Amino acid sequence: MITKISSLVILTGAGISAESGLETFRGAGGLWCGHRVEDVATPEAFARNPQMVHDFYNMRRAGLRDPKIQPNAAHQALARLEREWDGDVLIVTQNIDDLHERAGTRNLIHMHGEVLKMFCAFCANGDHESTDKYSILHDLGPEHVCVSCNRAGGMRPDIVWFGEMPYAMNRIERALMNCDLFIAIGTSGNVYPAAGFVQMARYAGAESYEYNLDPALNSNAFDKSFHGPA
Ligand code: OAD
Repeated sequence: MITKISSLVILTGAGISAESGLETFRGAGGLWCGHRVEDVATPEAFARNPQMVHDFYNMRRAGLRDPKIQPNAAHQALARLEREWDGDVLIVTQNIDDLHERAGTRNLIHMHGEVLKMFCAFCANGDHESTDKYSILHDLGPEHVCVSCNRAGGMRPDIVWFGEMPYAMNRIERALMNCDLFIAIGTSGNVYPAAGFVQMARYAGAESYEYNLDPALNSNAFDKSFHGPA
């Protein structure tokens, strides 16, 4: 039982954006045009069939341009918590949408990248996290030319694919080691390292709560679970 909370880490997943009208990754059988997300979100899929991978993310980017897609009460509540509470709040999202920032969250890490950004794989040369990023609001394709190296075929959405290293892991681990309370909202607990954050926080002495529509795969690791819409 925590007596005083002064530092919170909140992990969010696709479930928090579901009521804004964005599809989760593993809802509806987890298939996109017959492909599992694990077969689209990989560097190998991009090398084999770049257009298919671009189509997947172009569709998600188009979704965010739809004026009906707006931050919902859960995004707004987290932004308000950060604004009005005097403790530390770090939101770590696995989501590639921009609904947290549109709601007003400032202390935010996109550990799996952002669909509204792109970078050139040739220029990055393996260092995806610190290479130059460019905004992209419309469709991206293999014909896109990099403004820096002038080569086509290397521009890719700024997404951390399966087999790649999530962003800001040092900063996230430090925050988990120092928080009093860890909360996960709207994530199925399928994808590591995010699914293991609850254990890291607990080893460091934090309490942990799960808020999800139904029990996540790692539900048993949490001290308390609340099941219902975010
Ligand atoms: P998933 O699609 O795996 O899980 C979404 C979770 O949200 C499920 O457990 C749902 O039960 C829950 N959910 C659905 N609607 C909800 C609502 N209204 N309120 C609360 N919860 C709700 O999405 P993630 O766990 O975010 O990675 O997926 C993790 C990663 O897998 C993604 O970041 C993505 C994907 O592959 C990459 O692309 C690298």
